[in-house]
Amino acid sequence: MQINRRNFLKIAGAATVSAMLPAKGVSSGIPAESQQSDKSLKKIYSEAYKKHPQKFNMCGYAAPKLETVRIGFVGVGSRGSAAVERISYIEGVKIVAICDVLPGHVQKAKERIQTPGHPAIVYSGKEDAWMEMCRREDIDLIYVATPWELHAPIGIYSMEHGKHVALEIPAATTVEDCWKLVETSEDTKKHCVILENCCYDFFELLTLNLARNGFFGEIVHAEGGYIHEIGESLFFRGKPGRNWRLKENMGRNGNLYPTHGLGPVAQIMNVNRGNRMEYMVSMSSDDFLMNQYAKELSQKEDYFKQFEGAPFRGNMNNSIIKTVKGQTILIQHDITTPRPYSRLHTISGTKATAQKYPLPPRLSIAEDHKEWLSEEKFREIEMEYNPLIIRKMQDIAKEIGGHGGMDFLMDWRLIDCLRNGLPMDMDVYDAASWSVIGPLSEWSVANRSAPIDIPDFTNGAWKTNRPHDIALTEGGTTGVVI
Ligand SMILES: NC(=O)c1ccc[n+]([C@@H]2O[C@H](COP(=O)([O-])OP(=O)(O)OC[C@H]3O[C@@H](n4cnc5c(N)ncnc54)[C@H](O)[C@@H]3O)[C@@H](O)[C@H]2O)c1
Repeated sequence: MQINRRNFLKIAGAATVSAMLPAKGVSSGIPAESQQSDKSLKKIYSEAYKKHPQKFNMCGYAAPKLETVRIGFVGVGSRGSAAVERISYIEGVKIVAICDVLPGHVQKAKERIQTPGHPAIVYSGKEDAWMEMCRREDIDLIYVATPWELHAPIGIYSMEHGKHVALEIPAATTVEDCWKLVETSEDTKKHCVILENCCYDFFELLTLNLARNGFFGEIVHAEGGYIHEIGESLFFRGKPGRNWRLKENMGRNGNLYPTHGLGPVAQIMNVNRGNRMEYMVSMSSDDFLMNQYAKELSQKEDYFKQFEGAPFRGNMNNSIIKTVKGQTILIQHDITTPRPYSRLHTISGTKATAQKYPLPPRLSIAEDHKEWLSEEKFREIEMEYNPLIIRKMQDIAKEIGGHGGMDFLMDWRLIDCLRNGLPMDMDVYDAASWSVIGPLSEWSVANRSAPIDIPDFTNGAWKTNRPHDIALTEGGTTGVVI
C-alpha cells in the first residue's frame, strides 16, 4: 500500500498531521506532493523504524590481504566500461570476467582494457547472466555499474557467494535493501563499498583534512548537491533499452541521487564514526520542465508521446538532515533546471568556511569572514593540508582521469586497501546511510515534508567507530602501469 494523504493520517495520527496538510495553492507545475511513488511509502516508513541488531562491526574491519585482486564487472555501459579501462592501469589486478546483458557492450568494454594479463571471460545475453559470474570461485571483487535497482540485488548475491562488492551510486533505492546490504556484509564479512567518487575529488579531500585539523572549528552546517542539467538528454537516454534512468524519474519523487553531495560532507562530519544523521525533512518543487520536454519532443517524434502527462519528479529537491551533534546538512538534487553544474560542497564552521561552487573553490576564515581568502593564501593552505593521497597520486590520477582524476583515485584506493588488507574508506554503513536518503526523501515529500528518522545502520557502533585514514599511514603500495 502506498501512503496517500488518507492512509498516512491513520499511521501518524490525524490530530498532528492534519495541521501539516493545508490546501495546495495554485501552481503552473505538476504538484510534487500528489505524485505517488511506485514503491510502497508505508514500507519505507516501517523499514526506517525497524530494529536490526548488529551481528559484526564492519567499520574498521580489515579483510585478509589479496596479493592480486581478481575482478568481475557487471554493467559496462558508459560508466562501467570507463571503470574497466581505469582499473586495467592498476597493478595487482586481474580482470577475470565482464558481464552485461548486451553482448556489444561487453565486447566494447573488453577492448578498453589497456594492459596485458586480463582473461576477461564474457557473460552476456541474459538478464541474470551476472549470477553465473558471481558464483565463480576465482573472483574476489564484483564491481557493479548497472541501473540502480540492480545494485543491491547484485551486491547481496555477490557477498553471499564470497565476494567483496563495489556498488555504483546509490548503493540501494529502498530502505529494506539498505538493511539487507548491511546484514549481508556483517553475516559474510565481505566488504560492500559505495563507489562515491566525489569523496576523492581534490577540494573535497582538502576540506576533509582541514576539518580533521580543526580549521573549521565546530562544523555548524554543510551543503552538498547534484545540480546537473541533463534535461532533454534524459529523454534520449529514455529510448528503448536505455530508459532506466528516465523511469526512475517518473516513479519516484525525492532526492534520487543524494550521495555525490552527501558523501564528502558526511565524511567531514564523521557520520557513522563519532556522529550520526538523526532525522530529515524533504521538499520538492513541482515539475515545471519534464512534462514540457515530453510535450515538445512528442511533437517531433511519436515515440515520446508515451511520456506526456507522466508523473515526473519535481525538478528541485531539497532535503535537510539534522545530526545528533546538532548540525544541519542541506542536500539538493536537480537534473533539469537550466543552470551551471554544482555540487555545492559548502562547509560552514565556527572558525572558517569552504565553498566549492560556483567554481573556483574558496576558503574564508572567521577573522576576515567578509572576504574569501586570496588565491595565494589558498595555495599556501593547500600546500600545507593536502592529504598524502593527493600529493602522492594526483598527477597520475589526472593523467588517467575520470571526472578530472577523482574516479581513478577512488579505484586505486579501493584496490590498494584490498591488497594491503586495510579497512574500507567507505564501508557498508556509509553505503546504506548515504543511499537511504533517497527513499526517505520520497516519504517526506509525499507527506508534505514531514520529518522521518534516519536509521542507525551501525546500531550504536557510531559512538566508537573511528574515522578512516586519509594519510596513507598504511598501504599506498599499489603501483600504476601507464
Ligand atoms: N559516480 C559517477 O560519477 C557516475 C556517473 C555516471 C553513472 N554512474 C552510475 O553508474 C551506473 C550506470 O550508469 P550508466 O550511465 O553507465 O548507465 P548505462 O545505461 O550506460 O549502463 C548500464 C549498463 O548496465 C547494463 N545492464 C542492464 N541490465 C543488466 C543486467 N541485468 N545484467 C547486466 N548488465 C545489465 C546495460 O546493458 C548497460 O550497459 C548507475 O548506477 C549510475 O548511477 C555514476
